Order: sequence, then structure tokens, then C-alpha cells
Amino acid sequence: MKIVETIQEVRQEIGRARKVGQSVGFIPTMGFLHEGHVSLIKAARKKHDMIIVSIFVNPLQFGPNEDLERYPRDFKRDEQIAKEAGTDLIFYPTVSEMYPEKMPMTIQVTKGVEVLCGASRPGHFDGVATVVMKLLQIVQPDEAFFGQKDAQQLAVIINMVDAFNIPVAINACPTIREEDGLAKSSRNVYLTEEERLEAPFLYKTLKYGANLIHSGNHNRTKIIKELTERLQIGSGKLDYIDVLKYPSLEQAEEISGQIILAVAYHYKNARLIDNYIVEA
Ligand code: PAF
Repeated sequence: MKIVETIQEVRQEIGRARKVGQSVGFIPTMGFLHEGHVSLIKAARKKHDMIIVSIFVNPLQFGPNEDLERYPRDFKRDEQIAKEAGTDLIFYPTVSEMYPEKMPMTIQVTKGVEVLCGASRPGHFDGVATVVMKLLQIVQPDEAFFGQKDAQQLAVIINMVDAFNIPVAINACPTIREEDGLAKSSRNVYLTEEERLEAPFLYKTLKYGANLIHSGNHNRTKIIKELTERLQIGSGKLDYIDVLKYPSLEQAEEISGQIILAVAYHYKNARLIDNYIVEA
């Protein structure tokens, strides 16, 4: 496995692979890899000749009071995990390699960001879209792999690829969970012991919501009210719980079709998100 830090080097490596007809699978990450990332790398490994993982904590997607400085980083560990999962090349750029000057333009996401994390993290998805656009232009993969845990991010990226006619397939991979149901996340390391024990209640609440829908409750307001009440038992603070159409993320009072139940919850040092997609 090779590690390169510059855009020029990554392009050279990919150029060599392309010359001998190899296909390229790409997994963009912010590092601190866990089993969720490993599942993306393995899914890519099954389908493509050359597997590229990028590790870049993207400052553009963090708000002024968010955890950019504190975001967990451990390159040596990431290197080991990426290698064992079947990565051929890690692209590990510095901030100045990705953004040598203040960006003269960025992507402004105008659809699907007035709700969920878009509402509580203004500008976050503009930052995500801008960096993913850059990474896709640098790597030009055949297929890029993203986790469904970040369902709104996935919807934004699918819309972006469609809106800008980017020639890449987007592969959405299922959320990987701990045995007790907690969605794997780089931020889980920030949970205290007590919070870690409690946190699976988020997924349990989403599943409860899915059961409500399956048993014929289709009123959005009522479902949100019931789930909000259930989430009151937690020791943290609810950011949002919502029930929306997916992937359009539109609201409807009487729900039908593909629906996402999504939650964001603040613990002392970690904001956790999770979601559950159901057919209503
Ligand atoms: O999901 C992430 O890790 C990041 O948002 C991404 C897609 C790598 C962009 O920085």
C-alpha cells in the first residue's frame, strides 16, 4: 500500500493504473477509521482493481464552534486498518495541499439542507459538497463509496453528482453497528462510560418509530411527539428527531413511500447521529 500527500502523486499513481485498464474504487474519509470504513473499503475491493482511501479532516465542513481541532486523528492506526482492509493507496493531503489559498468559490447546497443536520449545522453540507467535489475531480474514480449512516450527506452527494453530471457511480453502504445497536462512528470515542452504555437507546428509539409506522401510524407529528418523549430519558440533549421522505428529505404530514427516521443527540463531548429508513 502506498501513501501519497500530493495531488500530483495521486494522479500519477491513478494514471499508471488506468493505463493498464484498471478500475478505481474510492472511499473518502476523515480518518480515525472504524469498521464502518472497513466495510466500505471491502465493498470497493470486491468490485475494483485499485482502491483509494483519502484521509482528510476537512476544515470547510466544521462550524466555528465545532470539533475541528478535537476531531480524533491517528494516522498510524488508520494506515494499518486501511492496509488490512485491502487499500492500495492512501491519499493523505495537508490542508494547504487541498486549499492552497482561500477557496475562490465553493458549492452552495440548495436542496435538502433546511432540515436535520443542515438546519443545526449551517454551512456544513456546503463544506462537504465542496471537498467531495474536489476529491472526485482529483481521483476521478469509477465508483465512490459512502455510508448510509450519514444519510443526509449521501443524499446531498447523490444530488451533486446528478446536478453537475459527474461521471461516477455512488455506492451507498449499510450502517455498521456495535452489538448493542450503536452506530459505529469516529466520535464514539468521546463518550463517557455511562454515555456509551446509554447511547444505544437512540437506535432503539428509531426502531420503535419504524414499528409505529409498520403498524399503521402514518402521522408525522404524532410519531415525532412519541419519539421525542422517549428520548427524554437520556442524559444528553436532543438536537433533532425527524420523520421525512427519503431521499428527497421533504416533509409530509401523512407519510408514505420511503421514509427516514433521523436523530441527532448531544452528549457532553460528542454529537451522535443515526437514522432508520423504512417503507410506509
Ligand atoms: O463522511 C465523512 O467522513 C466526510 O464528511 C467526507 C465525506 C469524507 C467529506 O469530508
